[in-house]
Amino acid sequence: MIIVPKNIVTADSKERILKNHFIEIENGRIISIKKNDEKYFSQNKRKVLRFDKLTLIPGFVQTHIHLCQTLFRGLADDLELLDWLQFKIFPYENAHNKNSLLASVRLGINELLLSGTTTLLDMGTLRHQEVIFEELQKAGMRAIAGKCLIDKNDLFPQFKSDTKSELDEIYQLAKAFHNTSNGRIKYGFAPRFVLSCSEKLLKGSFEMKKDFSGSLYHTHSSENKNELAEVKKRHRKANIEYFDSIGVVDDHSVLAHCIHVDEKETDLLKKKEVRVAHCPSSNLKLGSGIANITKYLMKGISVSLGADGAPCNNNLSIFNEMKLAAFMQKLIHGAKLMDAKTVFKLATIEGAKALHLQNEIGSIEVGKKADLTLLDLTSNTHSLSEEVESIYSNIVYASSGDSVNSVMVEGEWKVLNKKSLLYDQAELNYNSKTELKKLLNRVKK
Ligand code: GUN
Ligand code: FE
Repeated sequence: MIIVPKNIVTADSKERILKNHFIEIENGRIISIKKNDEKYFSQNKRKVLRFDKLTLIPGFVQTHIHLCQTLFRGLADDLELLDWLQFKIFPYENAHNKNSLLASVRLGINELLLSGTTTLLDMGTLRHQEVIFEELQKAGMRAIAGKCLIDKNDLFPQFKSDTKSELDEIYQLAKAFHNTSNGRIKYGFAPRFVLSCSEKLLKGSFEMKKDFSGSLYHTHSSENKNELAEVKKRHRKANIEYFDSIGVVDDHSVLAHCIHVDEKETDLLKKKEVRVAHCPSSNLKLGSGIANITKYLMKGISVSLGADGAPCNNNLSIFNEMKLAAFMQKLIHGAKLMDAKTVFKLATIEGAKALHLQNEIGSIEVGKKADLTLLDLTSNTHSLSEEVESIYSNIVYASSGDSVNSVMVEGEWKVLNKKSLLYDQAELNYNSKTELKKLLNRVKK
């Protein structure tokens, strides 16, 4: 197929923005990017799709998501992290069965795609992880996912498993799902956070990634002051310092949040090339704090964006994350820092780099996978400026998920003209409501 947009924001290393150009896609990859050529279009056997008003960008990459929590949106508001987990989220997640989990995952995938995200790193669920993988495969998403690991849980003791069965199960899951769907699905080993994991589990799951090339290690770190105090009480070390002391951080480790991080730990993030998943809306709503991503970026530490779970923000659109990522840094460092272009890159190519997928996705370049999002930046809520630099500003500061018109993953349309080609929204809503009602009854028991 040939796509002829109004313009293309490539996010390539030259940060090119192309006007009067088209892209050609074959077998899910971009095979050429050239100047518009009517003769070429008329002689070509490929389908020529014209989007005169739309801006083509790389599909967004989110590096920290909990699909299993989408069903709980609006049911865990106005709490700090440890209370939020203890009194709401752990009991809810514990009550998932396969049907409620599937409803939650579908809601999440639908929301992510409708707002332009094509790749995600997911934290998984304690039970029935295969449901998440199977739905990601069916939807044709690009995802790194893995079973959420918990082998101790003082906050909600019912919600845990034991170390050996956790490790046995994830080995089987990784064998079954890593590198499936033409490589779109990969395994991400996902111990929940220090407070719910034994050292054996943290280390065992880290070691396992050696057997699955291209897999990642994904956990929460240094999110909340009370969490950190408890980590220090138990281990006599700060969170990242502890991770380093047991040898579980390297360049294939993604740490969500990284808010309360000291200088020594910042140096560790740099030295070990650890990836920071910044979740600004979650960090604000849970009152967790402001991660100093300006400092991380200045030191050359990988930073990318994630919406976290729907009950902490309460929306999975990356547009909220981009805007807040910029605004929060301006608040602490001044308005000149964290400009729109920098933030746009965090949501695209930097996300791809964080996941070691930069050779496949994250920018619009010949040879890369056709994971693409088309935006309508022409509605009257947007600046009418046609200046190249205004495009980043329009996307990051003025747009929302509503600006997304169409989305494809690996050359296949998932959203076209603002309509999901995968799911029927009314059916999703009905099913989710029914499943939520049953789940809440299970919680009460
Ligand atoms: N830390 C441990 N679990 C969670 C979670 O589900 N969400 C967030 N934001 N932080 C966590
Ligand atoms: Fe999280």
